[in-house]
Amino acid sequence: MQLPVILVNFKTYPEGRGKRGILLAKAAENVSSEYSVNIAVAPQLLDTINIAQNVEIPVFSQHIDTKEPGSATGHIDAYTLREFGVSGTLLNHSERQINLRTIEEAISIAKDAKLKTLVCAGTIPMSQAVSILKPWAVAMEPPELIGGDVSVTTRPNIVKLAVEAVTNGNPDTLPFIGAGVKKADHVDAAIQLGAKGVLLASGVVKASDPEFVMTEMAKILKTVK
Ligand code: G3P
Repeated sequence: MQLPVILVNFKTYPEGRGKRGILLAKAAENVSSEYSVNIAVAPQLLDTINIAQNVEIPVFSQHIDTKEPGSATGHIDAYTLREFGVSGTLLNHSERQINLRTIEEAISIAKDAKLKTLVCAGTIPMSQAVSILKPWAVAMEPPELIGGDVSVTTRPNIVKLAVEAVTNGNPDTLPFIGAGVKKADHVDAAIQLGAKGVLLASGVVKASDPEFVMTEMAKILKTVK
């Protein structure tokens, strides 16, 4: 996957579900193709497969479960997601936490199903701990900044330490950063500080013109590449 990556998490925001979710994913696809910048989306779980079937950009699930397929009712199956064109999954988002052992199991199942794994961590030590498990990427998101108006990039030391922690855990795991990342300048700062991607939500999903916001971000990425 081309770096850096902007990964837009639709959460369960009404602005990003159902038909509006498809339009949002299409807007991300337009910007991605116009500016040759990698934008991925993580739609609401129930919309994931439908959106994966409707866009060419990478689509991530917001979560997977760790039950092997078969005698398991009501679980989110990694292999089914993959079969329908989903590229990866978030794990351990601050709003959908799982324990370290389950993270390890989920990474293993996702690898077998050929899904990329982006594991979220709320602290610097946790970023290193999950990076040791060799996921594709780790996104450090201070929980107190999620959904707010203060970007994590206004705390450059935290971003630098998070990038270092992920790389120390496993040099091949990509460091991402998130929480309060809403503007092109925030994306620029994250990349300048060593992140290989940003994980963001409200700044795009709840914007009055999400395509405009993503376009501004893509333009900045073109200049820092
Ligand atoms: O998954 C991204 C998220 O937790 C950050 O949310 O709204 O601060 O960009 P937001």
